Amino acid sequence: MILGIETSCDETSVALLERDGTVRVNHIASQIARHQPFGGVVPEIASREHLQHLFSLVTRSLEDGRATWQDVESIAVTSGPGLIGALLVGVAGAQGLAYGLGIPIIPINHLEGHIFSPYLQSDGASIPLPARFLSLVISGGHSSIYDVRAPHGGPAEVRMLNRTRDDAIGETFDKVAKFVGLPYPGGPEIEKEARKGHADPKRFPLPIAHFKDDSADFSYSGIKAGAIRLAREHQIGVAGDPAALADFCAAFQDALFAQLFDRLDVIWARLKSEGAPLPSEVAIAGGVAANGVLRDRIAEWGNARGVIVRLPEKRYCTDNAAMIAFAGLQKPEAATDPRRVAARSRIR
Ligand code: KG4
Ligand code: ZN
Repeated sequence: MILGIETSCDETSVALLERDGTVRVNHIASQIARHQPFGGVVPEIASREHLQHLFSLVTRSLEDGRATWQDVESIAVTSGPGLIGALLVGVAGAQGLAYGLGIPIIPINHLEGHIFSPYLQSDGASIPLPARFLSLVISGGHSSIYDVRAPHGGPAEVRMLNRTRDDAIGETFDKVAKFVGLPYPGGPEIEKEARKGHADPKRFPLPIAHFKDDSADFSYSGIKAGAIRLAREHQIGVAGDPAALADFCAAFQDALFAQLFDRLDVIWARLKSEGAPLPSEVAIAGGVAANGVLRDRIAEWGNARGVIVRLPEKRYCTDNAAMIAFAGLQKPEAATDPRRVAARSRIR
């Protein structure tokens, strides 16, 4: 079995996976309530919370997974990107355990964790990876589309096709939600508001933003600024008219997703023109992939093009250690001496 450890942001998580991707345990201690009074993640609080919860979670994971230390062959740990103090707790913890047990560590880029997460199941072995798939990683810290090639029996190759030039999509949800007085994290709150009554997304039109060059990059700061301007002008907030708040949230959410699909279409057209066999599947991952409206739309997008759509189970959308252990299973060749692993807040 492989033990997974994730502490890059505000979730302390430990998981135990079998070699075929079966998730024995995936424990997550969320710190959301601790950060909520501040309207966002406070790095120092995050580090301390990880330190407090990590080892009891490890012990509980072995117990609940009916496993002993002898069953653990390696430890996959998120080594970056993320909050450095938070990462250090997980990495140092994993190093201590692995060194003591005489087993290797597989350092995992948090984004690789998200990329493969749609192939995990809540029951039984993981879904076999296709030879090529597109992955949309949309979370609080990242917004990128990746071209992933997963040759049978070889290491996966990940090519980044675009990125955000400013804010991440989840961060944009969170900031605008905060401005109108909704609690952190804002994404699920905006989705809930947008579902209320007969929310009319056309009442507050927001442009989706294009670059002068034909770049497929995302840019969410314009939508954020536009949304905040609208909210200010129309006095939209939790204390104001509930119908206006619902319409506003629907419009804002629509604009964010409209840009996502605009860029996906550009990228799809480019891949088509390259002439190689197209990816047979498209997967979404990261916290924003929990959004029901997006899940429906991407399913339609795939159906219209004959592309299989992989939606991660909601428990694997937000940060979790099962996806980190699963990414570890994809790259056994990266197993290394625990002393050679380092936490990095940024990874190119
Ligand atoms: O993947 P994640 O847990 O952490 C990062 O690696 O960033 O993603 C958290 C982000 C937050 O910005 C949160 O607002 C967003 O995911 N999120 C959502 C939904 N659930 C979580 N955004 C939109 N709709 C949701 N239902
Ligand atoms: Zn994440």
